[in-house]
Amino acid sequence: MSDFKARYGPWALVAGASEGLGAAFAAALAARGLNLVLVARREPLLQELAAQLTEQHAIQVEPLAADLADMDVCRTLIASLEQNVGLLVCNAAYSAVGRFQDVGADALQQILAVNTAAPVALARGLTPRLVARGAGGIILMSSLSGNQGSANIATYAASKAFNTVLAEGLWHELGEQGIDVLASCAGAIRTPGYLSAQAGGEAPGILDASAVAEQTLDALGAGPVVVPGTLNKLASFMMRRLLPRRSAVRLMSNNTRELTG
Ligand SMILES: NC(=O)c1ccc[n+]([C@@H]2O[C@H](COP(=O)([O-])OP(=O)(O)OC[C@H]3O[C@@H](n4cnc5c(N)ncnc54)[C@H](OP(=O)(O)O)[C@@H]3O)[C@@H](O)[C@H]2O)c1
Repeated sequence: MSDFKARYGPWALVAGASEGLGAAFAAALAARGLNLVLVARREPLLQELAAQLTEQHAIQVEPLAADLADMDVCRTLIASLEQNVGLLVCNAAYSAVGRFQDVGADALQQILAVNTAAPVALARGLTPRLVARGAGGIILMSSLSGNQGSANIATYAASKAFNTVLAEGLWHELGEQGIDVLASCAGAIRTPGYLSAQAGGEAPGILDASAVAEQTLDALGAGPVVVPGTLNKLASFMMRRLLPRRSAVRLMSNNTRELTG
């Protein structure tokens, strides 16, 4: 058995697995021999992915349709898990693009629920089991947009900052109990979600979802934060360490103004 599977298997739960990066995480974990619980709302996409992965790899896959904006659903989902899950990937996200006063109040609450409350509920639910195992991992998908505020996506960017800081704290606290926690601060990724919001061409440093998934999984255990992609690492260093905060906000906002809802 590979070291990865021994430490984080035999099952992984991927939240937000129906397409884009979540589906890429599922494929990368399947190739590492882990069985999968795949969670998202669109059941047909989950079933299609499950069929594909079980055909390609000697693993079991359980598709689970659930709305992670509902905290009762998050809690019940974890409480009713029968599988020995050693790895949680919190990848599900919702974003609403537009001027703050034009985005509906419900859409803003949806960002908070899916991007911040759900990862807390899922991680909190699973942590006692991971601690009891004495080994395991939690990945929180964050973003370079969480490094500073950005116009047009202020609430989404803030939700990603939340994930980075949450992962840092849990990395220290749970690391002492054998649990590896990692925030993956991705730059642009070629996913249906990204491509539908992009008005202009592709952003510099854009990566395929498979590359982000692999680099993130490879960094687990060396946390608390990974920035996939060399150009993105340089951009992150510049935005966080070199530029004055207000310059970083202006620079990022010049780009995010181009996004469409
Ligand atoms: N794409 C980028 O350029 C980029 C850059 C930096 C960071 N990220 C982060 O990377 C992650 C994946 O990005 P992506 O572009 O692949 O996202 P995406 O295409 O929008 O996919 C998001 C996933 O989350 C699921 N999801 C959304 N709302 C849900 C809900 N209420 N309940 C359950 N599942 C829900 C979706 O499935 P259903 O619709 O079937 O529920 C889908 O599988 C996100 O955390 C994002 O913030 C992305």
